[in-house]
Amino acid sequence: MDLDATRAALLDTMLEEYADRLRELGEEDCAVTLAYTHGVHRVWRQVIQMLPIPAGTAVLDVGTGFGLLPLELTAGGSLRAVGVDHEQPYIDHGRAIQAELAEQDFFASGSEFELHVGDARDLAFADETFDLVFMREVLQFIPEPVAALSELRRVLVPGGYACVGDTDDQLWITWPPPSQALQRLVGAVAAVQYAQGGDRQMGRKLTSHLRAAGFEINSLVVLPEAQHRLVAAEDGERTLILEQLRAARTRVLSQGVTDASTFDSDLAEFEREEPAEQFRLNAKVIVLAQRPEGD
Ligand SMILES: C[S@@+](CC[C@H](N)C(=O)[O-])C[C@H]1O[C@@H](n2cnc3c(N)ncnc32)[C@H](O)[C@@H]1O
Repeated sequence: MDLDATRAALLDTMLEEYADRLRELGEEDCAVTLAYTHGVHRVWRQVIQMLPIPAGTAVLDVGTGFGLLPLELTAGGSLRAVGVDHEQPYIDHGRAIQAELAEQDFFASGSEFELHVGDARDLAFADETFDLVFMREVLQFIPEPVAALSELRRVLVPGGYACVGDTDDQLWITWPPPSQALQRLVGAVAAVQYAQGGDRQMGRKLTSHLRAAGFEINSLVVLPEAQHRLVAAEDGERTLILEQLRAARTRVLSQGVTDASTFDSDLAEFEREEPAEQFRLNAKVIVLAQRPEGD
């Protein structure tokens, strides 16, 4: 679909300002999630542009976070786009963002945007409600991925499409490699996710999980983002990693995957790291799958 560059720029500015406001309010977890998902969303714009999404399409985004995907889709065309997430604070902030954007004439005429609280594994929609369902960076957190994908299939019309994307830790490569301190910190956060039934190698498993849930695979892309840059103290990505680690501290310590003194000294060491040149490659796996006609 065509994305309007002016509206995309308006959305970007609005989201950056909103994340700053969340930081000022001390809502660390929300600020970090918004900043991270906004970065992912920018990369995904090229995928959205490749998808044929005609006017009148009913779209669902499962695990929508702040609703960035439905926000952008309803700015670009007269669609019905619905987002569902199990975190009430994300939905509340998404609705506040929607209200502010509506005042700036952001939405295409005839479009409908809705956000609801709900669980991916038990969607409160009738069978065959949507033409297109997205699930972006969510399956890695769900202990029963095939059950969640079967729910996606249930709410899709036969012949409808699911666009599912996720991360895979081995598609993140840097040179020079991360310091021992950073590796321990990132490993501790990943260990919490695994302990809660998540899977940080979800990217490579998407096609088999989708097939197990009754989908046909239409296409598979690996979307790379590569940079060679100087990672200075004020670097945006480095700042985001620091914010993510600070926000994860309580979760990591309560799960007992490391102790407070190791976590804090590793964090202090990472903060002290000298500016350095870095090559970085980060790739996302994205699969377009179809509910079979006549299913
Ligand atoms: C990394 S964020 C991605 C947000 C959004 N898909 C995006 O790309 O902007 C992961 C999201 O999945 C949501 N999530 C995780 N498990 C869920 C579940 N069982 N049901 C609904 N949402 C879930 C989280 O609350 C969070 O908002």
